[in-house]
Amino acid sequence: MTPPAASLPIRSSEDVVLVRQQVRAWAIRMGFGLVDQTKLVTAASELARNAMSYGGGGTALLEAVNNGGKLGLRITFEDHGPGIPDIGLAMKDGYTTGGGLGLGLSGAKRLSNEFEIVSRVGEGTRVSIVRWKN
Ligand SMILES: Nc1ncnc2c1ncn2[C@@H]1O[C@H](COP(=O)(O)OP(=O)(O)OP(=O)(O)O)[C@@H](O)[C@H]1O
Ligand SMILES: [Mg+2]
Repeated sequence: MTPPAASLPIRSSEDVVLVRQQVRAWAIRMGFGLVDQTKLVTAASELARNAMSYGGGGTALLEAVNNGGKLGLRITFEDHGPGIPDIGLAMKDGYTTGGGLGLGLSGAKRLSNEFEIVSRVGEGTRVSIVRWKN
C-alpha cells in the first residue's frame, strides 16, 4: 500500500535522483498515467534542484492526498536557505540568478494542478505542488 507520507532529504544531486525515483514510484503506485508521471517527476526534479542549489539543501515531502474522493499526489519542498526576495520576478520565464534557464519554477507550476510558494528572506522557501488523478 502507498504510505500516507514520506520525507526525503535533498543535499546532493544523488538525492535529487532519489527524489525523482520516489516520485515516479509513488505516481505509478497511485495509478497515475505515464504523462502525469512524467509531469510530476519533471516538476519535482526542478524544485528539488532549486532547494539544493539555492536553498543549500532541504527536504521533499511526498503525500497522497484525498479531496472528496479525488486522489492526488502533493509534494512539498522546503529549505532554510536565503529565501526569494521577489517571488513574482522569480516566477517569470527566463529569470535566473544562477545562470540557469530560469524555467524551473514557472515550468513546475505549468506541470502541476496546484502550486503554492512561500518564501521569507533569511528564513527559507517552501514550494508545494499537487497533481490530481483524472
Ligand atoms: N529554493 C530557492 N531558494 C532561493 N532562491 C530560489 C529558490 N528557488 C528558486 N530561486 C530563485 O528563483 C530563480 C528562478 O528559479 P528557476 O528554477 O525558475 O530558474 P533557475 O533555477 O535559475 O534555472 P533553471 O531551473 O531553468 O535551470 C533562481 O535563479 C533563484 O534566484
Ligand atoms: Mg531551477
